[in-house]
Amino acid sequence: MTTLPPKIVLTDVHKSFGPKVVLDGINLSVARGESVVVIGGSGTGKSVMLKSILGLLKPERGSILVDGEEVVGMGQRGRDAIMRKFGMLFQGGALFDSLKVWENVAFGLIQGQKMERSKARDIAIEKLAQVGLAASSGDLFPSELSGGMQKRVSLARAIATSPEIIFFDEPTTGLDPIMADVINDLIVKCVKEVGATALSITHDMASARKIADRIAMLYKGKLIWVGPAKDIDHSGNPFVDQFIHGRAEGPITMELRA
Ligand SMILES: Nc1ncnc2c1ncn2[C@@H]1O[C@H](COP(=O)(O)OP(=O)(O)OP(=O)(O)O)[C@@H](O)[C@H]1O
Ligand SMILES: [Mg+2]
Repeated sequence: MTTLPPKIVLTDVHKSFGPKVVLDGINLSVARGESVVVIGGSGTGKSVMLKSILGLLKPERGSILVDGEEVVGMGQRGRDAIMRKFGMLFQGGALFDSLKVWENVAFGLIQGQKMERSKARDIAIEKLAQVGLAASSGDLFPSELSGGMQKRVSLARAIATSPEIIFFDEPTTGLDPIMADVINDLIVKCVKEVGATALSITHDMASARKIADRIAMLYKGKLIWVGPAKDIDHSGNPFVDQFIHGRAEGPITMELRA
């Protein structure tokens, strides 16, 4: 057994926007080198949870420890140090349109680590190769790539700085099933290769099963089920069952407002 603290620990995290309670007491511990996937319906607060860990949103209650250090209410300098531990694949890719593909991948190296451009370019090309993109694609702009290629560029950017922790927000959304599986394999490979800790969000159960050691389901502000990925089919939880089978009928009711 290791004596190292867990990589990420959330304790009783609460986050509201005005009267809208989004996170209502989240408890989750992610071990070093572990891959945890958070599932849950649209608008349940999955992205808010990731943004809270990154310090982009401030919970009004609770604690978030990264490597044993409290990030809630941390000052700018401490936050910069914490941010350097993270790689992030944002929902929607969030590539910079005005930067070339290689510059997107090298962004954290040049801006964050102040690396020389030529050296950063070499690393960017290497990372692009890792996700199956030719060096020549580095000189294109994101708008010149297909959606699947853009996701791969986002993945290359997320791993470019060899971060200790990688967040993936909907890495396979909008991709065809085969490309989604290619991305899943790349995630598993990249995470295992660098020994990173991974926290991912997805609606895609095939992806969750493939990349997760553990799966957590977010519903009405709480993690209502957390367990090994292999147990998801016999969770004994009707909410989880409904979600993973995509049934309209069940305890989860969609709130559709006119
Ligand atoms: N900055 C913000 N200001 C106000 N409300 C916000 C903000 N960010 C998120 N919300 C609200 O918090 C709720 C949860 O949003 P979030 O983006 O976390 O959902 P999600 O679970 O990631 O959904 P999806 O699967 O569709 O991406 C939504 O109702 C959203 O409108
Ligand atoms: Mg989201």
